[in-house]
Amino acid sequence: MAMNTTVTPPAAGQSGLRGAVVGDTRLSSINGEEGKLIYRGIDIHDLARHSSFEEITYLLWFGSLPTQAHLDEFRARLSKHRALPPQLLALLRDLPKQGSPMDALRTAVSALGLFDPDVNATSRESQIEKAVRLTAIFPTILAAYHRISKNLDPVEPDPALDTAANFLYMFNGEAPDAQAARVLDVSLILHADHGMNASTFSAIVTAATLSDMYAATTSAIGTLKGPLHGGANEGVIHNLLEIGDIGAVDQWVEKKIAAHEKIMGFGHAVYKAYDPRATELKQIALEAGSKAGSTKWVEMTERMEQAVWKIKQLYPNVDLYSASVYYTLGIPTPYFTPVFAISRVSGWTAHCMEQYADNKLIRPRANYVGGRGVAYVPIAERSQDITV
Ligand SMILES: CC(C)(COP(=O)(O)OP(=O)(O)OC[C@H]1O[C@@H](n2cnc3c(N)ncnc32)[C@H](O)[C@@H]1OP(=O)(O)O)[C@@H](O)C(=O)NCCC(=O)NCCS
Repeated sequence: MAMNTTVTPPAAGQSGLRGAVVGDTRLSSINGEEGKLIYRGIDIHDLARHSSFEEITYLLWFGSLPTQAHLDEFRARLSKHRALPPQLLALLRDLPKQGSPMDALRTAVSALGLFDPDVNATSRESQIEKAVRLTAIFPTILAAYHRISKNLDPVEPDPALDTAANFLYMFNGEAPDAQAARVLDVSLILHADHGMNASTFSAIVTAATLSDMYAATTSAIGTLKGPLHGGANEGVIHNLLEIGDIGAVDQWVEKKIAAHEKIMGFGHAVYKAYDPRATELKQIALEAGSKAGSTKWVEMTERMEQAVWKIKQLYPNVDLYSASVYYTLGIPTPYFTPVFAISRVSGWTAHCMEQYADNKLIRPRANYVGGRGVAYVPIAERSQDITV
């Protein structure tokens, strides 16, 4: 019987799986036409203004808004798992100091699985335990790698501090002021989950093979690193620094668009309206800039937004204003995408748990467009490479 190898090719505009649905989720939903985002039904603006990263992590994993007592218990549980196992610290010390912190994070998370005696356990409780371990330790890994690469001693986590404040504390070696911690906390809320984004898809493809959550998270970190996904916020600050001054923004934008170059921080695969996360981040970028005594970067960003809109009618995405927020917080550029990861791990692990609860191997097909019936020429008869 002839093998059926033909696959219906994607319709125009459908390449890159645009519009394809991989499964059901109760975690978050994007209305791209109206520029709306909800986590478990709750509007992102309400969460950004009133919630905390720990609370929305609880919301994503357990499907409920916790009481104060449950939230306190949850914070304590995260706190218990923040410290690095000594072997992991030794591993971080052995890595090249000039490496990308995303690569260091990916390597450390991959190794972390080896230190979990229950790595292959599959009960819901063991999945929660892994999600807690992963989410708790991201800030510690990144802060330690940063300090080691600067020949400084890593700082132990402070059990009294939550994720955002703890990261700034371990990174800088001094406790952040309340406003800086809140600014980062809001940013973490806004980045925690976002439908079936590329890195979440990577995570669930790995989880769907019934591989463990450390492996799934390692896949996701590799995917988040790319400049078309989490890496875009670093591109934004490179652009702002290259432009240097608000007066040079328009001409720079015109040149880039004329050269058909992508401008980082604009456009989105799903939003065809203003990204609601960018609305919140713009506001906190302005507030953080005013507090720090310089709104230069956020003003340049606003100018860039206007210039891009004028020529190309593209909306900003989450990365446009997160760049000036992180820059104002004093976070070095190579740590912008890692900060995104500190937040998104809560979403990755939530999606893994959904996947494990109702699993089906994810195995799409590709549309083969190569040749057929090509003759095999034995190597002895080839005077040169034969391109087929
Ligand atoms: C995110 C992204 C990959 C979405 O891609 P997409 O929905 O497939 O959009 P397309 O690439 O099909 O873009 C449609 C049009 O807008 C243009 N466009 C999209 N994003 C652009 C950008 N950031 N700068 C300039 N032009 C852009 C495309 O070149 C294309 O123009 P054309 O119709 O003249 O060819 C894309 O917008 C991008 O690369 N953005 C920059 C990276 C970024 O900020 N990523 C973070 C996402 S949260």
